[in-house]
Amino acid sequence: TDLPPSDAVDAASESNRKVPSELISREVARRRTFGIISHPDAGKTTLTEKLLLFSGAIQLAGTVKARKSGRHATSDWMEIEKQRGISVASSVMQFEYREHVVNLLDTPGHQDFSEDTYRVLTAVDSALMVIDAAKGVEEQTIKLLNVCRMRDTPILTFMNKLDRECRDPLELLDEVESVLKIQCAPVTWPIGMGKNFRGVYHLLRDEILLFKAGEERADQEFEVVKGIDNPRLAEMFPLEIEQLKMEVELVHGASHPFDLEEFLAGRQTPVFFGSAINNFGVREILNALLDWAPAPRNRDATVRAVEPNEEPFSGFVFKIQANMDPAHRDRIAFLRVCSGHFERGMKIKHLRLGREIKVSSVVTFMASSREQVEEAYAGDIIGLPNHGNMQIGDSFSEGEMLQFTGIPYFAPDFFRSVRIRNPLKIKQLHKGLQQLGEEGAVQVFKPVHGGDLILGAVGVLQFEVVASRLLNEYGVDAVFEGTSISSARWISCEDKRALADFEKSSAGANIAFDASGNMAYLATSGVNLKLTQERWPQLTFHATREHA
Ligand code: G4P
Repeated sequence: TDLPPSDAVDAASESNRKVPSELISREVARRRTFGIISHPDAGKTTLTEKLLLFSGAIQLAGTVKARKSGRHATSDWMEIEKQRGISVASSVMQFEYREHVVNLLDTPGHQDFSEDTYRVLTAVDSALMVIDAAKGVEEQTIKLLNVCRMRDTPILTFMNKLDRECRDPLELLDEVESVLKIQCAPVTWPIGMGKNFRGVYHLLRDEILLFKAGEERADQEFEVVKGIDNPRLAEMFPLEIEQLKMEVELVHGASHPFDLEEFLAGRQTPVFFGSAINNFGVREILNALLDWAPAPRNRDATVRAVEPNEEPFSGFVFKIQANMDPAHRDRIAFLRVCSGHFERGMKIKHLRLGREIKVSSVVTFMASSREQVEEAYAGDIIGLPNHGNMQIGDSFSEGEMLQFTGIPYFAPDFFRSVRIRNPLKIKQLHKGLQQLGEEGAVQVFKPVHGGDLILGAVGVLQFEVVASRLLNEYGVDAVFEGTSISSARWISCEDKRALADFEKSSAGANIAFDASGNMAYLATSGVNLKLTQERWPQLTFHATREHA
């Protein structure tokens, strides 16, 4: 008797259901959407797993790890992924903790990472930087941090592996500040390290968290001792406590106190020490994420900034994962919700195509499985299955023309020229590359002079993925060869005459057009690029370009 008459149900599903704006604001406020940035082996997978354990999203340690190594691959759709035992495609995990909804966007940490990694960071509101405390700041961390900086994304820092012999903590902070150009505000401070790792001192709470090794349980509590002057500490470890007092004095004098505003502006990072594998310091980082990291914020679109708690739904696609099922050539577009409320079955407008679609099937990526989502709010990620009509950078709304900006293509660092063994397959090659290019799997450049297409990638693994997919999905056996190209820059120029002169000059031989028809300069060396830039001051050479 509680059920409404069936015609009422139909009527309601006809149009998009309106959700009160207070509910939207409440849901947005409790959301945190972040990604982990780190160099391979720093402990991202381990930390991800511990975060999920805390939330109860997974029960068993080893679940994420197993997925990484391919033993338990839920996504073994791609041959190469199985072969290499790494997850080529990044995915999304959602879990709840302390009344918050946390969306963790996985960024592949492998050195052969792809543009996906970069673009995933355009969809987060904050990032957690994991550093191996024995190694300090490494190459990939630098690259990823620079991407975060493009949007002033707030960064939390976790210094991992304190259960091993590490570098001096002060030296580590110094390195972060000088190499990454971000101010450090230590929040916890390590007491000893390696075999003598005793725990961490919480500088803001004046508490000591005692370290205990080898715990795999999520509900475990570490013992807390209040006050650095507590006589119990001096009894427990007289040597380390003297050292700690000295260091804390130094830290208070030499480093910056935590400042929420500076953190939110991306200028300061709170730093935590711990050991992911021992689950130690993980809760502190999770709490900091909920307490300090921002809820979804305004997003820039071409016409105006969009606020997350506006009632109408809007969002953009930042990633495409293709051929989940090779038999159907289907793709999943990962959409970051930017405003409003999304509900399965609602109608949304695909702005680039000017078409309204009814979204009857949606996926979200829960910790261990793909599930149907019923609803989502700003900050959430939803997966829209499609047959290739959705592209990276596409915006969706309930009708308003809101093209979101800031979803860039990055100038590739690696180049290959591509040939095919069977010339009769040239059409399939072009079709395949066109589609793979649209998906963001690789960038395709057509030089103005000379025949072979040039592929560009930010990680060399992308070439293997493309070769394997060309063969399996398009039946094209392509040969990739090294080229003399070392970097690419997109070119823009207001002065049409200067641009025409440039095209006619000797540098013009290095011009190519990308898949969307944008002009690029393919430089043969760093010196060549620099000289060309100096010679053509009227032209701007861009290292990124926005989606067309
Ligand atoms: P990644 O995703 O960033 O690449 O790193 P991952 O978590 O896979 O960790 C890399 C290695 O570092 C793993 O060892 C992992 O066990 C270890 N590790 C992570 N956190 C800690 C820590 O707090 N202390 C110590 N001592 N080690 C840590 P592995 O030998 O490569 O893998 P496995 O055989 O242990 O699985």
